[in-house]
Amino acid sequence: MSAATAARTTAAPTIEFEGVSFAYPDGTQALDGLDLRIEPGETVAIVGQNGSGKSTLVKHLNGLLRPTAGRVLMDGEDVRAVHVARLAARVGLAFQNPDRQLCAGSVKAEIEFGPRNLGIRGAELDERVKAALDAVGLAGEVDTNPYDMGYSRRKLLAIASVLAMLTPILILDEPTTGQDARGVARVGSVVAAAAAAGRTVIAVSHDMRFAAECFGRVVVMRDGSVALDGAPAEVFAEPHWPELRAANLEPPLPAVAGARLGLGSTPTDATLVAALVELAPERG
Ligand SMILES: Nc1ncnc2c1ncn2[C@@H]1O[C@H](COP(=O)(O)OP(=O)(O)OP(=O)(O)O)[C@@H](O)[C@H]1O
Ligand SMILES: [Mg+2]
Repeated sequence: MSAATAARTTAAPTIEFEGVSFAYPDGTQALDGLDLRIEPGETVAIVGQNGSGKSTLVKHLNGLLRPTAGRVLMDGEDVRAVHVARLAARVGLAFQNPDRQLCAGSVKAEIEFGPRNLGIRGAELDERVKAALDAVGLAGEVDTNPYDMGYSRRKLLAIASVLAMLTPILILDEPTTGQDARGVARVGSVVAAAAAAGRTVIAVSHDMRFAAECFGRVVVMRDGSVALDGAPAEVFAEPHWPELRAANLEPPLPAVAGARLGLGSTPTDATLVAALVELAPERG
């Protein structure tokens, strides 16, 4: 990565939702007095049942939607006042439905589209396309027409095209939908790499295992506001299971296993294994 590219990826703004409500034109109240603050460089999984407002929430971050009431701030500045082009340079959003996002005739043109709009050309553009393709495992598909790809690969392409913009805030709406285990692992690596580069990563997900394994913070939404918010070990701890289940969510399997065995809150494979090793009598 060039020095100029690296510099552009560093300064993620603080995000604040202040009493944000949003109603769609047909009157559906999708967000209801939502408060949420996300610090630069955090990795946040947003979970919640269908229709709880997750996609509506993230669309407020790139100016696709504007609050009916309340404010969304970045570094204290109301995003309403930020020009859409400036917002696009700060916030990259991979849509839940890739077909709403993909528009070019080849994989290469698709990935170039965003960075070109930011004024990126030449060797840096080529470098970004290559890095984005490598990150999602689509190297070698440069000339493929996106519409000849299956859903899971179109989804990865949509992620790659947003990755190539190197925005300080990266948002992935349901990135693991349709992915097999390898695809989920790839998306996990994308999250980890972006976080390591100092970017803020926000992902909407139905996959509690992915949320627990790959994110430092889990926000549970219910009826347009935040029901639970904390580290995976807090949110998936046994006392919160009734609340999770009320939102149609099941805690990840290691959390259930750890609780059954009296090991405390073990939301991930690694925390469960560590607790089991601690418990095991010395061998030999
Ligand atoms: N364009 C729209 N017009 C009217 N209502 C909408 C529109 N988009 C979403 N909604 C409604 O707003 C509410 C929140 O929708 P949203 O898509 O934000 O939920 P979600 O949590 O992302 O759901 P899912 O898990 O199904 O993707 C739902 O009741 C939904 O039906
Ligand atoms: Mg959604």
